[in-house]
Amino acid sequence: MDKIAIRGGTPLKGEIKISGAKNASLPLMAACLLTDKPLILENVPQLSDIESMGELLTQLGVSVDVGPDSTTLCAKDLNSTTAPYDVVRKMRASVLVLCPLVARAGEAHVSMPGGCAIGPRPIDLHLKGLEALGATITLEEGYVHAHAPNGLIGATYTFPMISVTGTENLLMAATLAKGETRLVNAAREPEVGDLADCLNAMGAKISGIGTSTLVIEGVESLNGTTHKVIGDRIEAGTYAMASALTGGNVRLRGMRLDLIPTVAAFLRQAGVQLDEEGNDILVKAPKGRLKGVDVMTEPFPGFATDLQAQWMALMCTSDGASMITETIFENRFMHVPELCRMGANITVHGSSALVRGVDKLKGAPVMATDLRASVSLVLAGLVAEGETLISRVYHLDRGYEKVEEKLRACGANIERRG
Ligand code: EPZ
Repeated sequence: MDKIAIRGGTPLKGEIKISGAKNASLPLMAACLLTDKPLILENVPQLSDIESMGELLTQLGVSVDVGPDSTTLCAKDLNSTTAPYDVVRKMRASVLVLCPLVARAGEAHVSMPGGCAIGPRPIDLHLKGLEALGATITLEEGYVHAHAPNGLIGATYTFPMISVTGTENLLMAATLAKGETRLVNAAREPEVGDLADCLNAMGAKISGIGTSTLVIEGVESLNGTTHKVIGDRIEAGTYAMASALTGGNVRLRGMRLDLIPTVAAFLRQAGVQLDEEGNDILVKAPKGRLKGVDVMTEPFPGFATDLQAQWMALMCTSDGASMITETIFENRFMHVPELCRMGANITVHGSSALVRGVDKLKGAPVMATDLRASVSLVLAGLVAEGETLISRVYHLDRGYEKVEEKLRACGANIERRG
């Protein structure tokens, strides 16, 4: 099982090309199920989660052709409407095939995802929304069985709490429903907007993009299109913190500040200089130590939960303290004991963690537990004295394309060990 070894202390200098967004690519790939025409996606990152989605779609009968510059998906001949447990349990985002399958084929049989490291993560909102659109849902032997043999009917569905993939799933279903659908209290994450833009290019009629109310006029069928996946704002936020933490000066290529509005505001509060130049963000660390800044995770445009672990690593050596409150997931502090092994001073009380800045972190053997926790250990390793050895880095490979290459190109002393 691969490990990553880092010797800290080198300020990052240079540039990092931001890859296409994992969390935009996954729903966009599922959207191919809505049409029998080819969907061509550009800027899809090479990640294990993307491969898993490709495998699932192939099992359903989709032709998936991964080229050097684009991925072509065509669901002309579907031969299954079942997403099996062994695939879904590996990647929860598999649930994104549920609604497109029902909209296109009138039925879907998708394994319940089960919990994951960061929380139980139910899919009840996906199911309630699909029922609101006229599907009948039964749960048997760990599978969701959804049927709408006469097609879906447009309706108004209000999310009792904001759900990113719940919004994406129902948005896809609504494009082929008869009549108008209104999704109220919809997620406003940029990845939802990217999906909506692609669906409109395929012939859907979606308005309110970027707001919390999406209005969809159903159409008979959708065409194919060519769509470029937006940049990964979570990757960009992660590398911005890597530059800030190491006293660095890094250009992030292919990212805009309006995709990370709250993270940018807090980085500036901590003393980091952020500038935009064309389609790039320049991240310059302050001369002295960073200031401690409190954050609370919230749905977009609030501070992204997917950047919480990284912010915690950033604050470990700050001049002061930072109260970090996680409001989205129930168990997203598993990086705390690992950071403490490196000398961090962090106390957890329920959904809040108090980080008191220490003078320095010391390298140590640590273990990755989930995708974003694993990258927080990389950040800590970049600034720690001595060597940090991170195990279970398969978590990292789910969401960060070529992480060692990108960091090594900016001077980091980092290598992968088999
Ligand atoms: C998406 O997950 C992202 N994944 C997550 O990124 C991200 O952390 C999360 O949104 C929040 O921003 C993808 O886009 C593939 P939610 P999702 O539905 O859609 C509860 C990463 O690291 N909920 O917005 O599954 C849920 O338990 C991953 O890239 C229900 O109760 O998250 C959570 O507490 C991790 N019932 C909250 O809502 C439901 O039916 C928000 O979840 C759905 C969700």
